Amino acid sequence: MVFPEYRPRRMRVNEAFRSMIRETSLSPANLIYPLFIQSGKKVRKPIASMPGIYRLSVDQLAKEAKECLSLGVNHVILFGLPDKKDPVGSGAHAKDGIIQRAIREIKNKAPELMVSTDVCLCEYTSRGHCGILVDGDVDNDSTLEVLAKTALSHAKAGADMVAPSDMMDGRVSEIRSALDENNFHMVPIMSYAVKYASAFYGPFRDAADCAPQQGDRRSYQMDPANVREALREATLDVDEGADILMVKPAVAYLDVISKLHDEFDLPIAAYHVSGEFAMIKAAAERGWLDEERVMYETLLSIRRAGADIIITYFAKDAARMLNK
Ligand code: PBG
Repeated sequence: MVFPEYRPRRMRVNEAFRSMIRETSLSPANLIYPLFIQSGKKVRKPIASMPGIYRLSVDQLAKEAKECLSLGVNHVILFGLPDKKDPVGSGAHAKDGIIQRAIREIKNKAPELMVSTDVCLCEYTSRGHCGILVDGDVDNDSTLEVLAKTALSHAKAGADMVAPSDMMDGRVSEIRSALDENNFHMVPIMSYAVKYASAFYGPFRDAADCAPQQGDRRSYQMDPANVREALREATLDVDEGADILMVKPAVAYLDVISKLHDEFDLPIAAYHVSGEFAMIKAAAERGWLDEERVMYETLLSIRRAGADIIITYFAKDAARMLNK
């Protein structure tokens, strides 16, 4: 059946028809909101390259948590800025570390809010790499033990889920074992299975103070040119016990999200990263784009590609828009 018998515009004449046949939905329940936490009191420090996003001290978290819940954003992911860094990232698994304190505070004041934690060493090591340096290179196997300790310390503090973002080989199984041996078999792992060495992380590295002091992350994060390798990375993480597979960044990698969605039956998450957020904010500030519409279209496209879950700095803004 071709024109004039078939007219696709018939199904677009009004919002009732359009919404009836809409294939993709976006709800605050799909979103995870990242929080940056530092020590101090009454700290709410704006991050220049991420308008509307702040570094918060622990005493600000109850208020923040309640705001998220009131908007229907039921899940946050935590990033920490420790007071001190050292070569082995001890701050990452300190019992009284910044993240451990933040988890306890949120779980105390707003227990319904789901708390995931980023498990990585880059914020905690003096050189800003995601693992421990041996002879100038990030050493895979000695890093695994520290990552497992870190994930375990988060679970002990009350984290609902852990999300390793370091890209060391074998970390999912190491973390799974550490959790299981300590009776945390119900704490899931959302693995940053497919994480590219991306320039879109620029603003985040300012926010979390974790830019590498020398070199870059290309010896452990993936080459943006590769997609078949993404399937291999994801397969490994599935075999090692991941509960959710994440692709990061999101918008520049929609094809990768779509492939993972087709190939695997685990839930898929996508991280709409700092640079992808900053681009929209900057253009909107200049009046070049309609921020709300571009935000919605962007998040919808990530869902359409196949992501169940989106980690995004727009989570609260999007929820406000969707709740209108
Ligand atoms: C590493 C980590 C990074 C991001 C999340 N976890 C930075 C990196 O790998 O350099 C980036 C997130 C963003 O850009 O929003 N712990």
